[in-house]
Amino acid sequence: MKKRLISGVKPTGDIHIGNYFGAMKQFVDLQNDYESYVFIADLHALNQIHDPKKLKNNILEIAKAYISIGLDPKKVTLFRQSDVPAVSELCWIFNSITPLGLLQRAHAYKDAVAKGKNINAGLFDYPVLMAADILMYGADVVPVGEDQKQHVEITQDIAQKFNNLYGNTFVVPQELILKEVSTISGLDGRKMSKSYDNVIGLFEDDESLKQKVMSIVTDSRKPEEPKNPKEDNIFALHKLFLNEKELLNLANRYKEGKISYKESKEMLFEEIKTFVAPIRAKKKELDGHPEYVVEVLENGKDNALKEANKTIEKVKAKVGLKIR
Ligand code: ADP
Ligand code: TRP
Repeated sequence: MKKRLISGVKPTGDIHIGNYFGAMKQFVDLQNDYESYVFIADLHALNQIHDPKKLKNNILEIAKAYISIGLDPKKVTLFRQSDVPAVSELCWIFNSITPLGLLQRAHAYKDAVAKGKNINAGLFDYPVLMAADILMYGADVVPVGEDQKQHVEITQDIAQKFNNLYGNTFVVPQELILKEVSTISGLDGRKMSKSYDNVIGLFEDDESLKQKVMSIVTDSRKPEEPKNPKEDNIFALHKLFLNEKELLNLANRYKEGKISYKESKEMLFEEIKTFVAPIRAKKKELDGHPEYVVEVLENGKDNALKEANKTIEKVKAKVGLKIR
């Protein structure tokens, strides 16, 4: 029997290459090896997005992104988190056994507090809903970027707590984080993130792609000066697109002062453009067929519901919410 995989992305804005290489590419690479559940974390997005039109649009965009990058709806259950009401029920049941301290230690929450953001209860409770997402489908592995590691650890804690209290029920899942792409850096060298406004979009048009690539922050070394590839933000991104031999070659040109940052950026632009071309073409095709995308999500919903209903019935019986 195949092991199970689950992961999701929040529909909070356009997908960037950090999301793609850090997490989404793994969903595609592993779809034949795992029984996969990949969803759109629309309930999670609600604590950030309060504009209904925008949310609706973002949801469809992520669905199209999933299919465009190569997820095959025949192999993978592609669905929307909010199509499975049982996940909110499970979240509530987990809320009742989750120590407050566990959530107070969460980086995302602490970050929001440090930045003086307006924090709603949904943001605070975010990791518990995520635990419900993961445990609901009996996932063995959860492919994510490094920033989600702690959330998966909280899930493990909640699974163990439940199992201790009510008897063995949940598989304790493992995060799946690929070291070399665990944190993709953005235009300014910080982690690529929507919230830092330093992203390169996966579906960006050529003009804006070029403008972004040319704005990557570098030091002020002149074209003929030796440069250190290990400390360069452009080089860090080349690693995603070049093979080993090409990288070695480029690294040598850096060290010998045989390439300017400008030329390196122009190369990178071409690499990204070539790489995203087929993904963009598929996305364009899907833009013309929204009904197909909705149908994929409807099929995914049926599948996800079957599994979720089994789990929630079992859980309700275990905790004493079933009276006959
Ligand atoms: P963002 O930080 O831009 O809001 P999300 O939180 O929606 O991105 O992340 C979706 C998925 O992409 C998660 O699995 C996350 O770990 C991964 N991810 C996001 N940014 C990066 C990055 N810079 N490097 C590697 N993985 C990332
Ligand atoms: N928290 C994840 C993110 O910000 C999205 C997410 C929600 C998720 N539920 C999940 C990821 C369950 C993996 C498994 O990207």
